[in-house]
Amino acid sequence: MIKNYFDSLLNQSPRANWTALLRKLFESEASCEYTTEIFLSPKHMRSQRLYDFFHRYITIARHHSDWSFPGFQGATIVELGPGPLMGWGPLAVFDQCEMFIGIEPSFNQKLLEDSRFTDIYLLGVHRDLCALYNQEIAFVEFQKAVEERIAGFKSIESLDENTYVDIMLSNSCLEHIIDLKSTINTLYQRATPGSIFLHCVDFGSHLSKTDPFSAIYSSPPTTKGIDPIMGINFLRPPDILDIFRSAGFIVECIPYYSAPQSTSQKLNSYWSDNYSPEELFLKVGIFVGAKPVV
Ligand SMILES: C[S@@+](CC[C@H](N)C(=O)[O-])C[C@H]1O[C@@H](n2cnc3c(N)ncnc32)[C@H](O)[C@@H]1O
Repeated sequence: MIKNYFDSLLNQSPRANWTALLRKLFESEASCEYTTEIFLSPKHMRSQRLYDFFHRYITIARHHSDWSFPGFQGATIVELGPGPLMGWGPLAVFDQCEMFIGIEPSFNQKLLEDSRFTDIYLLGVHRDLCALYNQEIAFVEFQKAVEERIAGFKSIESLDENTYVDIMLSNSCLEHIIDLKSTINTLYQRATPGSIFLHCVDFGSHLSKTDPFSAIYSSPPTTKGIDPIMGINFLRPPDILDIFRSAGFIVECIPYYSAPQSTSQKLNSYWSDNYSPEELFLKVGIFVGAKPVV
């Protein structure tokens, strides 16, 4: 595991490692340095990312399931862990959602008020979506709708008791949540009957791209919470299905892609005793489903 951690450090530029370390030690997420890092990050600032990921997931889901996405129009949406620029929020607003709520522990309203959010990021998103949807919405109108319809909270417990949601989403977030059971139970209470969800989960160690499972499966789970190095909760596909089902949701897991066991990999018996190879080597799964209408 330590080896993978150092491999991941080596895969990043020295500047990126140094910046991440300094932030951990000295900076808060509200700091000017952190804000600048977000606005200089090609990952965060890629305006095509929203449509790209979202439509990829619903297309893959459609190939394997009757589950379908009804569109954002008129819906109240919750995205878990959307990241600092509120994830799929601008896409949902462009598609005329009623309200988009991002539950993000690092949420910082100042980022959304920064001119770089509007003048660079939102402008790019607007250009892209106008072309993709073949619609001409004035940028000022879109910007105003984003201001009015996107809200961020640091935790799901801060959601207003009177807020009910129609669509629940996340991208690479469920694997990072400490108490996923309690989060999904809370979502169930806030979900309208017939509401739908899509959650994309990355089951790898988040350390090595070439050998995504070795750091996980060489020993039993080290903790019941979040592993301090990998930042994940060790839940595997059937555990996540159980959590959704026991909350009351209808759910299925659509395999996106698997990463077969590498020849050098040692599989600790804890894992082989409790899971099938298909479950162990699913690298990314898309969980889709609904709250039943009773
Ligand atoms: C790997 S990042 C993914 C961010 C974004 N969805 C994306 O696709 O880039 C995981 C996100 O989950 C968030 N997160 C961690 N614990 C959470 C929790 N309990 N509730 C909601 N979000 C959480 C983190 O702050 C982080 O933004």
